Amino acid sequence: MSERGRFIVFEGIDGAGTTTQARLLARWLRRQGRRVHETAEPSTGPIGTLLRQALGGRVVGRGGARLTPETIALLFAADRADHLRNEIEPALVAGADVVCDRYDHSSLAYQGTETDVHWVAQINAPMARPDVVLFLRVDADLAGARRARRAGVADLYEVDEVQRRVAAAYETAARFRPGDRVVVIDGSLDARSVHRACRAALAAR
Ligand code: TYD
Repeated sequence: MSERGRFIVFEGIDGAGTTTQARLLARWLRRQGRRVHETAEPSTGPIGTLLRQALGGRVVGRGGARLTPETIALLFAADRADHLRNEIEPALVAGADVVCDRYDHSSLAYQGTETDVHWVAQINAPMARPDVVLFLRVDADLAGARRARRAGVADLYEVDEVQRRVAAAYETAARFRPGDRVVVIDGSLDARSVHRACRAALAAR
């Protein structure tokens, strides 16, 4: 049987660079001869798909109202449970490293600012813990400038004021997961430097 893979999570506000860095790290791990499964939350599963539609405003509640923060928090937790069982765990067991763009620190930071963070921590309590969480810390204004350069329509949370609150919430999110190994990385640097810092964080195990 192959050795269990490592579960590596990227976290940060929108525009922090999690998607870029997850891709760079996955590519580098493959070059090291590792098998890698790249994934993200919201996932591509049924609940993740529904969530993306809700975040983009294509699925709304009754009478056109947005889904309540509690509903969204529960959907993220449900997506995570499904993602773990059907995608993350099987890949880890098969010996692949799993590089995941966002996990439950996102729920603590995003949903935790709009509903009771203790409750958000509780509904996510059964979720398996990552081996390492790479938190890309960037100032909300810099992340906003990066988002402005991106094409596409802004999601529900891609509003400067919301991102400022989420950035502050990320600073305390780790308190709810005291056993997690969270490495804080300066995400304001250029992509290559951030990538080097991520590699160093993994090597430092
Ligand atoms: P994002 O990584 O930005 O996806 P994309 O690059 O496809 O837009 O994630 C979508 C949004 O979901 C982002 O604003 C963060 C938010 N989110 C939460 O609010 N809670 C969560 O638990 C997760 C995983 C993501």
